[in-house]
Amino acid sequence: MTMPAHELDTFGVGNVDIESTPIMNDQKMKLGLFAFNCSGGMVMSNAPTTFRVTWDQQVKIAQLADRIGFEAIVPVARWRGFGGDTNFNGVCFETFTWAAGLAQATERIQVFTTTHLPTVHPIVAAKAATTIDHISGGRYGINAVMGWFPPEMEMFGKKQLEHDDRYKYGAEWLDFVQELWTKPGEFDFKGDFFNATNVEAYPKPLATPRPALINAGTSPAGLEFSAKYVDVNLTALDSLESMQEHATKIKTRAREGYGRKIQVMTYALVVCRDTEEEAKAAHRQIIEEGDWAGARNVMSVLGMESASFQAQIEKYQERFIAGWGGINIVGTPEQVVEQFRELSEAGMDGAFLGFLDYEKELEHFNERVMPLLKEAGLRY
Ligand SMILES: Cc1cc2nc3c(=O)[nH]c(=O)nc-3n(C[C@H](O)[C@H](O)[C@H](O)COP(=O)(O)O)c2cc1C
Repeated sequence: MTMPAHELDTFGVGNVDIESTPIMNDQKMKLGLFAFNCSGGMVMSNAPTTFRVTWDQQVKIAQLADRIGFEAIVPVARWRGFGGDTNFNGVCFETFTWAAGLAQATERIQVFTTTHLPTVHPIVAAKAATTIDHISGGRYGINAVMGWFPPEMEMFGKKQLEHDDRYKYGAEWLDFVQELWTKPGEFDFKGDFFNATNVEAYPKPLATPRPALINAGTSPAGLEFSAKYVDVNLTALDSLESMQEHATKIKTRAREGYGRKIQVMTYALVVCRDTEEEAKAAHRQIIEEGDWAGARNVMSVLGMESASFQAQIEKYQERFIAGWGGINIVGTPEQVVEQFRELSEAGMDGAFLGFLDYEKELEHFNERVMPLLKEAGLRY
């Protein structure tokens, strides 16, 4: 019998169990490298750094994270900067093409795109994702974000949906993408946002039942979306108690509501130096030379536009400059490991990290912190 071409093309596909991918491993404190596709990364400051968004440096940083044994590299989805003195994040690489290039340049680490779901049609996204999944040998995933920064979403010529409707759209977008990844032959898709007939998509991803999914929803609608769909929820919470509460809540909701497992991770700016004095001075310099005008721009948008950030705006002022709203891990290698231990005890399965100077500080992290994380039983 002659095989239809599309079946031949998918021969051998679907042979990488998602459970065998790095982000699903059993390290107690999983590590990702975050935000280095955008200028500033997680730091809105004029503090001196050799970090630049050039392709040569992206490859070096990704290969370093791969060699060190980090689980993931995760970019930021960004289409314009935040103004101010540095136009923070204004120089940034698009994440599908970024992930494709870095998938080819690395060997073990999981490579993520961060995708604003309203900016790309599910048929295009499913195929681009599958292509990167094949380039990487099944170690690919999507960090699905809905878009919260109106000036960048309006660059696409459409008004942003209301907050909770963004998650309704996101849910339908992912339903469609998952059908494209898994359904054989031709099918129709009918929903409130997408209407498509005679659709097909080949090849299917190597990762089965699908590539890994991340989401950083923290509002009730975001939390429900994460519980239903994704493998990792990223949280922006800043106290150990609230992290613990959040982790318990979302894990319970995923299990009881959808019969699913979900991990919870946070993101952090790491400022690690050999002495406490040096670490504190480096951290202080980031804030003193901070892009206060840029930080104000971010906060005014978040205050108006992002439901879950409102209450935290005041205390986040400095945190936007140092760490993009995430926690700061500052100190000697020993002190840094102690803070990772506290995060682990607060129910965090991992952390996505940023550095002022990614390449330089990642080398130091590898030499001085990784061995101590192993000694502390947080990594093997
Ligand atoms: C670690 C982390 C990474 C995020 N990355 C992006 C991003 O790259 N692009 C983006 O538009 N939003 C990003 N967000 C924002 C979230 O998608 C989301 O809008 C925010 O966490 C507020 O949650 P809510 O939508 O449930 O209100 C990120 C949030 C966190 C905590």
